[in-house]
Amino acid sequence: MKIIHKPDDLRCEIEKLKNAKDCSSGLVPTMGALHDGHLSLIKRCVNENNISIVSIFVNPTQFGPNEDYAKYPRTLEADSVLCEKAGVDIVFAPAPEDIYDEYYFKHKETTLICPPYDTVNKLCGKSRPGHFDGVCTIVGKLFNITKCNNAYFGQKDAQQLFIIKKMVNDLYFDLKIISCPIVREKDGLALSSRNTYLTPEARQTALNISQALFKAEELFNKGIKEADTLIDTVLAYIDKPGIEAEYAEIVSLETFEKINLLNEKAIMLVAAKVSSGSATVRLIDNIEL
Ligand code: PAJ
Repeated sequence: MKIIHKPDDLRCEIEKLKNAKDCSSGLVPTMGALHDGHLSLIKRCVNENNISIVSIFVNPTQFGPNEDYAKYPRTLEADSVLCEKAGVDIVFAPAPEDIYDEYYFKHKETTLICPPYDTVNKLCGKSRPGHFDGVCTIVGKLFNITKCNNAYFGQKDAQQLFIIKKMVNDLYFDLKIISCPIVREKDGLALSSRNTYLTPEARQTALNISQALFKAEELFNKGIKEADTLIDTVLAYIDKPGIEAEYAEIVSLETFEKINLLNEKAIMLVAAKVSSGSATVRLIDNIEL
């Protein structure tokens, strides 16, 4: 396995491997601090492609000014060991200066890929203005640098997945997006790099999020199809001392637009803020209904 930092070196290495093998290439974009959720994407990528690439890059353009860019966990050494064990060919771990040019650092602006307003001005995008512009921009760059055939994303970040699929369709990126199911802890908590911020008590409190979604699923399976009833149940379940829901919404899986009655494939999404010592940790989760 090679660890590569510069986009040009990555292009050369991929060319070399492509000449040696008759080839499909897969990419798993990540911000590192890899856990079993990431590894499920990575293993699938390794299984389904001749060349597998994992990118590890904490992307500054997708973080707001008061978010956790500076303290986001950076664990390249441990991440590389996990990738090597999983059979990855290349870890691409650029520095911000390898991905963004001097103009960006001077003016704090760069060429962006901006998804349509209605897809970003809701759910996570509402409290994180500019977040999905940053995500699409880095993912678009990674697609252009790697020219991968397949790219793997988790359903854990369902709005991100929807927006990236739309970007690929709108901009004619020549690759396939593969969506992978949410990996959870045994007790139901969705795996997330941000779970490392949780104190043991906060981790216990955070369980309310997945449990609230499972409760909604139970009601849905009993025949309750009104979105408002399911949303109210989830909000009431989550809001306890030490945890506060930011949103709970139900949208169509196909269009990501709000629905009132669940007569089509739908997804219920939740974001909540958990108090963890002196910090607040924002977590997201979702379930298909
Ligand atoms: P990151 O949060 O590191 O996640 C990388 C990929 O792993 C995403 O596709 C995410 O949905 C997936 N993932 C995370 N937790 C998961 C879980 N519990 N089960 C299944 N998949 C999971 O998402 C990002 O990074 C960034 O926005 C990125 C796309 C890399 C752009 O910077």
